[in-house]
Amino acid sequence: MIDACARQIDYIRISITDRCNLRCVYCMPEHGVTSFEHREILTYEEIVRLARLLAQLGIRHIRVTGGEPMARLGCLGLVESLSRVPGIETLSMTTNALLLDGRVREAHDAGLSALNISLDTLDPEIYRKMTRGGDVFRALSVIDEALALGMRVKINAVPVGGMNEEGLVDLAALARDRDLCVRFIELMPVGCGASLEPVPTEAVRARLAEAFGELREDTQKRGFGPARYVRPEGFCGSIGFISPLSHEFCGQCNRVRLTADGFLKLCLNHRAGTDLRGMLRAGASDGELLSAMREAIYRKPARHGFESEIDDREVRRMNEIGG
Ligand code: GTP
Ligand code: 5AD
Ligand code: SF4
Repeated sequence: MIDACARQIDYIRISITDRCNLRCVYCMPEHGVTSFEHREILTYEEIVRLARLLAQLGIRHIRVTGGEPMARLGCLGLVESLSRVPGIETLSMTTNALLLDGRVREAHDAGLSALNISLDTLDPEIYRKMTRGGDVFRALSVIDEALALGMRVKINAVPVGGMNEEGLVDLAALARDRDLCVRFIELMPVGCGASLEPVPTEAVRARLAEAFGELREDTQKRGFGPARYVRPEGFCGSIGFISPLSHEFCGQCNRVRLTADGFLKLCLNHRAGTDLRGMLRAGASDGELLSAMREAIYRKPARHGFESEIDDREVRRMNEIGG
């Protein structure tokens, strides 16, 4: 459907849990995390019902996110149900990959065609520090297994000053011999990200250009998100940049979000949206849900407003939003 800013909204990010097996520094605090209780989060039946209705409104792409989606029991069963929703063309997952170790074929067979994997460094010690406990070799093994099965793989790395800057070139080099995208995401001042030091996209580009030569634009379509891609000479895959602060992409935004507790969220940085769980559990009809969703999506905020004071700034952490 088309929103008030004439943007076509055909993509939803569905967060199925706020829990995670890791504690990445830019996303979650190390201790003292309170999670939704089970009764607060949508059941899989509720999620599939909403997905069917969203498809009727023109949603064509579903991304399953978390927290860590694989941390919720039965996640791949949900994926399978979503893959059968009429009108949905692509089904992908954003994950830290560790819980997919040994289960990639199952994920593929359940209907996932693409994985976006969070991986900030190849250095086992720095990875352990940034994720507070993760084993980088498990993530790497999932990447190779997914590629071998023909899945599209994107790596998401958040450069953080004083943490993983020195290893960004090595990480990008994964795309030299493998047909995958390594994407550098500007640290967003959301939740725990607000207290860390961002590394501007231009600084990352300069490091990469020094190592790989000219960063030629890669115009091949890779997914439906806001990243811009380049492909250095001799690279099999590509390198991407997601730069919400230095190159705002809100004018082309195509997505809305469903949080694990059933809130249809219209923009990452705004609280605006509508409580679908309340409606579902009060017995709303499909028609009532459809009109609530249609009205909400129409009012999607025009811009994220990270740089300014906005009245309804999001206060949830990234793991509760789903990225
Ligand atoms: P594809 O390109 O279709 O594979 O998906 P994607 O890049 O949108 O998904 P992914 O979950 O891998 O997100 C990568 C990063 O982009 C995360 O840090 C997200 O928070 C960020 N991102 C995704 N959508 C938006 C958005 O609408 N606004 C902002 N500011 N950031 C976004
Ligand atoms: N800024 C930018 N990206 C973030 N992510 C989590 N928190 C932040 C933040 N503050 C990224 C993770 C994951 C994606 C869903 O969101 O790296 O890949
Ligand atoms: Fe977990 Fe992803 Fe947040 Fe890391 S970024 S703590 S993997 S939800």
